[in-house]
Amino acid sequence: MRVMVLGAYGTAGRAVLSAIVGLDDVEVVAAGRQQDRLAAIAERFPGVAVAAVDVRVVDGLRQSLQRVDVVVNCIGPYIGYGAPVVQAAIEAGAFYIDLASEQEHYRCVSRMNKAATAAGVSVIVGAGAYPGISGLLLRSIINRCPSARVAELALVTGHPAAGETGPAQVESGLLELSYVHQILSAGQLVVVRPGRSKTFAFQEPFRRQAMMEWPQLEVLWAAKNTEIRELSTWVRLGGQAPTPAWLLRAAARLGLHRPNRVSAWLKRLVLRRRQGPKTEAERSLVGMGALYTHVEGSTAQATKILTIKDVGWATAWLPAQLIALLRDGRLAAVGVCTPADLVDVDELLVRFQSAPGVFVTDVDSATAPA
Ligand SMILES: NC(=O)c1ccc[n+]([C@@H]2O[C@H](COP(=O)([O-])OP(=O)(O)OC[C@H]3O[C@@H](n4cnc5c(N)ncnc54)[C@H](OP(=O)(O)O)[C@@H]3O)[C@@H](O)[C@H]2O)c1
Repeated sequence: MRVMVLGAYGTAGRAVLSAIVGLDDVEVVAAGRQQDRLAAIAERFPGVAVAAVDVRVVDGLRQSLQRVDVVVNCIGPYIGYGAPVVQAAIEAGAFYIDLASEQEHYRCVSRMNKAATAAGVSVIVGAGAYPGISGLLLRSIINRCPSARVAELALVTGHPAAGETGPAQVESGLLELSYVHQILSAGQLVVVRPGRSKTFAFQEPFRRQAMMEWPQLEVLWAAKNTEIRELSTWVRLGGQAPTPAWLLRAAARLGLHRPNRVSAWLKRLVLRRRQGPKTEAERSLVGMGALYTHVEGSTAQATKILTIKDVGWATAWLPAQLIALLRDGRLAAVGVCTPADLVDVDELLVRFQSAPGVFVTDVDSATAPA
């Protein structure tokens, strides 16, 4: 099976590449637009082919997807960059996997469901750690607690390891400010502005963390595929305190997603703050993260926290699993979907949880008061 990784020398791309190189019967092609960085990959991973691809050049993109069975798209922001790659993958009859978290990308790609189904391929969006592993957690915890109608998902990460700060993540956040964010409230998708703040109780070493509400695509998935009526999603990335809602509103009004001097300065500032842990406590969290899932129903509630030693590894874990399942003929084509629609969530979660560096806490599943 031939798998092309787009954005192969980016932060997530490098992790995905490392996770899939060496899978039996998988031929890997690393793609990007900088020849020197592709050459470095070829040197580091003998046996990996490289291809010069700029996804903005649609004809070239189409051409390079000929003879590809699966494309893993690690190029963000997915708003703008994602849909043309999905379109090209469908036309080439290739399965598609990405790590997107943007709701707008999910809305856009969902419109291609008919074409993907007709082409006999799956377009699997949000297959990283958050979204991704978080969706498996949500599905699994709902299965365990069928009366659940209220849910929360959250991700906290420490400062990234040196050289692991992806500019695309910051660009995605800024770009998203110009699009609609929705949470589930009283069974309806309701438009909100990101930036609300709330404190979550994680396990050691993260403990209590002030988090920022940032609706991600699993909210839209849950609205369609579960009976959850209230769902919000929260983040605290790179050891940074949540950005106040007023500042996010101002950034949206100023159009800081557009390339200009102020937005370039802001991106540099965010990236610099993320890179440098200052205290010993911050240094001890470098590269780590934790995923939090909580559900509540009329008869029960459950909370599950996965503390993860290496978030980069966790980001690439699901794409590697999906590729292995596709190779083994264990995934049927279902059009546009998320990993939770496709896989045996409990089987995969057991595998993820038993990996070294993943620590599981089932905080409670006690009966809630009537
Ligand atoms: N779901 C999850 O758990 C999860 C985790 C991590 C990241 N993500 C998402 O994944 C995306 C990538 O993140 P990242 O941290 O890896 O970002 P990154 O380090 O900035 O990497 C982005 C990559 O995309 C490439 N690229 C940009 N424009 C391109 C184009 N027109 N043609 C070909 N390649 C192009 C860049 O190459 P150049 O250097 O040539 O520009 C770079 O290799 C982001 O949207 C992020 O939010 C999701």
